[in-house]
Amino acid sequence: MASLAARATRATVLGKKSFPPFSVVSRALSTKATSYTLNTGAKIPALGFGTFQDPDSQENTVSLALQKGMRLIDTARVYNVEEQVGRGIKKSGIPREDIFVGTKLWCNDYHPNDVERAVDDSLRDLDTPYVDLLLMHYPCTFKRGPDRFPRDADGRMVAGETTFLDTWKAMEKVIETGKVKAIGVSNFSRGEISTLINESSTIPAVHQMEVHPYLQQKGFNEWLQKNGIHVVQFSPLGNMNDFYRQTGWSKEISHMMRVIDQPILKEIGEKYGKSPVQVVLAWGINSGRSVIPKSVVDWQIEQNLEADFELQPEDMAQIATLDAKARFNDPSLDYEWRLYSDLEGIDGAMKGKTH
Ligand SMILES: NC(=O)c1ccc[n+]([C@@H]2O[C@H](COP(=O)([O-])OP(=O)(O)OC[C@H]3O[C@@H](n4cnc5c(N)ncnc54)[C@H](OP(=O)(O)O)[C@@H]3O)[C@@H](O)[C@H]2O)c1
Repeated sequence: MASLAARATRATVLGKKSFPPFSVVSRALSTKATSYTLNTGAKIPALGFGTFQDPDSQENTVSLALQKGMRLIDTARVYNVEEQVGRGIKKSGIPREDIFVGTKLWCNDYHPNDVERAVDDSLRDLDTPYVDLLLMHYPCTFKRGPDRFPRDADGRMVAGETTFLDTWKAMEKVIETGKVKAIGVSNFSRGEISTLINESSTIPAVHQMEVHPYLQQKGFNEWLQKNGIHVVQFSPLGNMNDFYRQTGWSKEISHMMRVIDQPILKEIGEKYGKSPVQVVLAWGINSGRSVIPKSVVDWQIEQNLEADFELQPEDMAQIATLDAKARFNDPSLDYEWRLYSDLEGIDGAMKGKTH
């Protein structure tokens, strides 16, 4: 079975691109540059840039996105793009201290004795002395060792011997070294985050999770906000990423119309002179969250940068009606861990077959 990273690699469309030299950001007048304050006191931009997939494009697209005004870069060890991201940051000419860089620890590096070494590996590849944010990618722990997807003879994932709480406590220690400015989690349930809150001294600064108009998770978002945990929406455009159709993680719901083709989004966009994609991203920002759309296409990156604008309450209310509790990212069966167990939108993939 191919690894996540191998499956993530696909043909790029970079041939026709042009990469302008360093230029000062000029956003449309209607476009804001919202940022939020994390529970650490640090600022995080509302609008960011995802780097999952298309490794050959990431150096140039990260550089372009930064030159055009993005200041939040999201990556992960398991994406196999940290080197490219690091080169893109350098190439952009934007000072490192002006950029919020976040990466994620992968599940085979969760043993407490492996955590700082894994951070060092990421820092080396990103070519930076620190990251602004380190996330635990999933709550499940895989067998420690070089194999990112350790499987037994029957192809089943082999679990690690420590828990996410052990990993979290090791991450807390890395903060003290200055190599990591803040720590957080991704793909956790409410119960799992409660464990961290109750049994450690650090409340996660961020929860990165799937949120888009088809999976709004209103109650969970309110709970996170109440606990001072900032939400970063991954897959903010919903089911745009073909990965979800290819893996089978969301087989039962893969037939759904693309979020951005919902007519109501087009109608709302027309009022503001914005595209449905921009409306979807603005919905996330107007809800107090960060969004990290990924793109390797110049005009799309530029369009996404113009997505920080105010939506009227009646338009926010219209978008609320699109909630379908449809979760596309659910590798529970594959990872042998019941993810999102107490959250909305767990039905799709759990009833289907994994890849
Ligand atoms: N923590 C986690 O477990 C997790 C899981 C998934 C994702 N993430 C993070 O979240 C980021 C974003 O998620 P994602 O890549 O799954 O989904 P996404 O950003 O919602 O969607 C990406 C897709 O939308 C397309 N797109 C982007 N901007 C567009 C525009 N303006 N117009 C039309 N199409 C546009 C992209 O096309 P092109 O690629 O062709 O440009 C790509 O196919 C990832 O890159 C990663 O950093 C984290």
